[in-house]
Amino acid sequence: MKIDYTSYKDVDLVGKKILMRVDINSNIDLEKMEIRDSPRIRALVTALNDNFKNSAVIILAHQSRPGNDDFIDLDIHAKEIEKYLKRPVKFVKDIYGEQAVQAIKDLKVGETLVLNNVRKFEGEMKSYEDFTEAENTDMVKTLFPLVDYVIVDAFGAAHRAHASIVGWPKMMAGPITDRELNTLKKIMEAPERPMAMLIGGAKAIDKFKAMKYNFENEKLDFALCSGLTAILIFEALGTKMGETNHKIIEKDLESNKEMIRETYSKYRDKIILPKDLIIEEDGNRKIIGIDEAEAYNTTTGDIGPKSVEAFNEILMKCKTIIANGPPGIFEKEVFRKSTNEIVNTMVAATKKNNALTIIGGGEMGAAASMAGKADEVSFISTAGGEMLEILSGKDLPMIKALREKKV
Ligand code: 3PG
Ligand code: MG
Repeated sequence: MKIDYTSYKDVDLVGKKILMRVDINSNIDLEKMEIRDSPRIRALVTALNDNFKNSAVIILAHQSRPGNDDFIDLDIHAKEIEKYLKRPVKFVKDIYGEQAVQAIKDLKVGETLVLNNVRKFEGEMKSYEDFTEAENTDMVKTLFPLVDYVIVDAFGAAHRAHASIVGWPKMMAGPITDRELNTLKKIMEAPERPMAMLIGGAKAIDKFKAMKYNFENEKLDFALCSGLTAILIFEALGTKMGETNHKIIEKDLESNKEMIRETYSKYRDKIILPKDLIIEEDGNRKIIGIDEAEAYNTTTGDIGPKSVEAFNEILMKCKTIIANGPPGIFEKEVFRKSTNEIVNTMVAATKKNNALTIIGGGEMGAAASMAGKADEVSFISTAGGEMLEILSGKDLPMIKALREKKV
């Protein structure tokens, strides 16, 4: 991946109107309609305070994907930004319609405006191999002429060739991307080995493919799998995990079963699967064996103590640890324990072994913050899935577009 872009530092931003495409996709408490502590929002606020106080800033971002429960408007994101920024943040429930256009025209230097969830524009989520096709979407054609500069700083979504990521005729990188690449460069170029990756949470097949890519490129020594990725692998190997679990990964499984089996058999010594799981029984944690999951037929929301022990043993031997996705559904108290223990192990590896420890993704970052450990690992990245791809030096669409569309 060749890193060669115009940076926000290369131009004078004072008095300018700037559209910033960022990644503030966050973990949402849907009952309270609140954002759970979001490292991505905090990174954005720091970036705004440090660099854009004398500009008019329009924020363009997404939350989740169409069809998901947390595919919501960005009004609560605007509120959360306001809370940390400590100055008013405007929001319009519009992306590039009349209301948005007017709000952008009216925006003054020193003000911040958040547009609505960009994935509500149906042209957004295609994978635009041809960047000029993305340039011709109504959204890009409407918004681009309204601003002086576009900064694409959605580092956590750099692997998506979506219209708002690759579609601007001219674009620059922002402070989040600069900072992330400076830290991750070390891992891209010469990571200290052994290197382990913790793979948990959702988006099972994306993470599985990224893991495979890293094994094929000989970048990775261990993949410690939990969450939906582990369930996907178990099921592909023929272990039934119960209908409740099965339903969630069914689609990924059908179209990838052979590939998963082949990959597993090739790297079986390096792919570490859970040895036990946790289910909720009368509000308490109940440890079950992998072979019991089918009979219980309920959400296996965390990994059990034997799994944590096995994971910890490997982690304490590693010099580089990348965590992407929590091992448990940490939002629920009953499924939180193992995520906290793994975060503690990462802290111990940082302190005792001088390991480089990186936590990525909206969920795992929130988990570390909730455990009060965010400052005790080497780096909290705003990157999720694509961090796994960066490791192998894959040319990410956002980085490619930044290179090809320099200001
Ligand atoms: C993330 O949370 O990983 C990024 O915001 C990208 O989200 P996506 O996988 O839905 O594109
Ligand atoms: Mg995510």
